[in-house]
Amino acid sequence: MENKIAIIFGVTGQAGSLLLDLLLSKGYFVYGAARRVSNPNLQRLQHNLPNKNFKLLSADITDTSSLVNIFAKIDSDEVEIYNCAAMSHVAISFEQPGLTWDVTAKGHLNLLETVRHFAKYKSLKVFFCGSSEMFGSNVDGDDFQRETTTFTPNSPYATAKLAAFNLNKIYREAYGINTRAGIIFNMESSRRGENFVTRKITKYFGQLYNNPFLPKLSLGNITASRDWTHCSDSVKAMWMTMQAPPKDYVIASGEVHTVYDFMKKCYEFIKDKVEIPLKPLEELYEIDPLFYRPLEVQYLAGDASLIKKDLG
Ligand code: GDD
Repeated sequence: MENKIAIIFGVTGQAGSLLLDLLLSKGYFVYGAARRVSNPNLQRLQHNLPNKNFKLLSADITDTSSLVNIFAKIDSDEVEIYNCAAMSHVAISFEQPGLTWDVTAKGHLNLLETVRHFAKYKSLKVFFCGSSEMFGSNVDGDDFQRETTTFTPNSPYATAKLAAFNLNKIYREAYGINTRAGIIFNMESSRRGENFVTRKITKYFGQLYNNPFLPKLSLGNITASRDWTHCSDSVKAMWMTMQAPPKDYVIASGEVHTVYDFMKKCYEFIKDKVEIPLKPLEELYEIDPLFYRPLEVQYLAGDASLIKKDLG
């Protein structure tokens, strides 16, 4: 039997690289599209580089001609396209809103336009990584966010994701493009970038294990609540939506914790394992306004009952 074919945009990131692991394990042939950067950033997919079912291609989602070049190269009539490319850091989007929009919103539009033209020759399916940040601070009466909750984005990042999410829907309805989106709540793993809060905290406690005299950990708003899922589970959900008719789904765990709770859990995890007793938790961290955002999403809680009902 022939391999199924997939393209992953943003393959060097956390979600892209875990999706690559999943698709290769399912027997796909995968093209990974990555931007050329002067310092190689292939750590998350190093183990897959020798795999004969994986080919790394140079492309940038902000450059439509590079997308056309990729699609023209792929000699298959059926392709699954996953767009995980984004400027994904909410705080940085306030510093670099233009770049955020170029990559996250315009980038997805470039992809949709390219798909629209190639759809005449090939059967293409698209998945877009939308974000729970699109909800902003809006929750339903039961304190959950779901597919029907009104979006009230409050960061440049969230507005860019919402623009792309809406375009994704418009291209599905207007042109019949086989495209769907996940409204994805926070995804975490050991491959998480070190400036996201879970990895920043786990890295700190990992270092503290070896050096109990580390300077304090500086954090921002530790009262924020998030719905965290292991990213391997989230990418599995992405793949499942791709096997079903095109429809947008919340991808979430439904379990909510504060950043402080997360840190406390990490502290408790290493407390009994270290040889030199640790200081009390309250003496190990400090609040630095540098890590506050101009606007904050205080609470995210996903109701994933629709994807559970439809796809199990
Ligand atoms: N990054 C960071 N660093 N966040 C901190 C810190 C800190 O030092 N201190 C507190 N926080 C708080 C943030 O203010 C936020 O409320 C929460 O920790 C989580 O921050 P991040 O881990 O940076 O993730 P995020 O929730 O802003 O965004 C992530 O999830 C979105 C989906 O909800 C990203 O992965 C987005 O790309 C994704 O769309």
